[in-house]
Amino acid sequence: MRIYLIGMPGSGKSTLAKELSTLLSLPYYDMDTEIEEREKKSIPDIFTEKGEDYFRVVEKEVVHTFMPDNAILATGGGAPCFFDNMDFMLKNGVTVFVDVHEDVLVERVWEQQGTRPLLAQDEKDEVYTAIKEKRESRFPYYSKAEFTIEAGTKTPSELALEIKQVLKK
Ligand code: S3P
Repeated sequence: MRIYLIGMPGSGKSTLAKELSTLLSLPYYDMDTEIEEREKKSIPDIFTEKGEDYFRVVEKEVVHTFMPDNAILATGGGAPCFFDNMDFMLKNGVTVFVDVHEDVLVERVWEQQGTRPLLAQDEKDEVYTAIKEKRESRFPYYSKAEFTIEAGTKTPSELALEIKQVLKK
C-alpha cells in the first residue's frame, strides 16, 4: 500500500503522516524533504534562487520517481495541482485529501512564517487572502482524491484512526 496525503499548506499532512506511520507500522516520507535532499537546498532557497517553475519540475520528478512501497507520503501543498501529478498519484496509490478550513490554515501558516515562500506575507489578512485564493483554485484537484477527511478541529491521532477505518472499507 502507498498512501498519499494531499492538501493545503498548514493542513497538518506531515504531522498526520508521522501519526499514521505509528498506527499502521509503515514508514513515512515527506516529499518536500526528498526535494530538498535532491537539490541540496531548502525549499525557500530553491524558490528564491531558481523560481517556482523550476521547483515544480523537480517536484514532478519526485512525484513520478519517489515511490516507496508500503509507505505514507506527505506531499507538498501544490503537488497535486501541476502537470499530471494528481492522476499519477490516483493511479499509483491511495490518495487522502486532508481538508482543513481556511481559518485554521491561516493560524498555522501565520505561526510558521518563513517556511512557505508562496504564502510569505507581512500581514495576517494578506495570508488569509492568499490562502483563500489558493484553496479555491486547488480544490478541483484536491477533491479528485479517493478519500477526503474533514480535519479542522481533530487531533492527529483522531485523524489517523479515521484514515485507518476508511482504508479498511
Ligand atoms: C507549496 C507547499 C509547500 C512546498 C512549497 C510549495 C505550495 O509544502 O511544497 O513551499 O505550493 O502550496 P507544504 O504543503 O508542506 O507547506
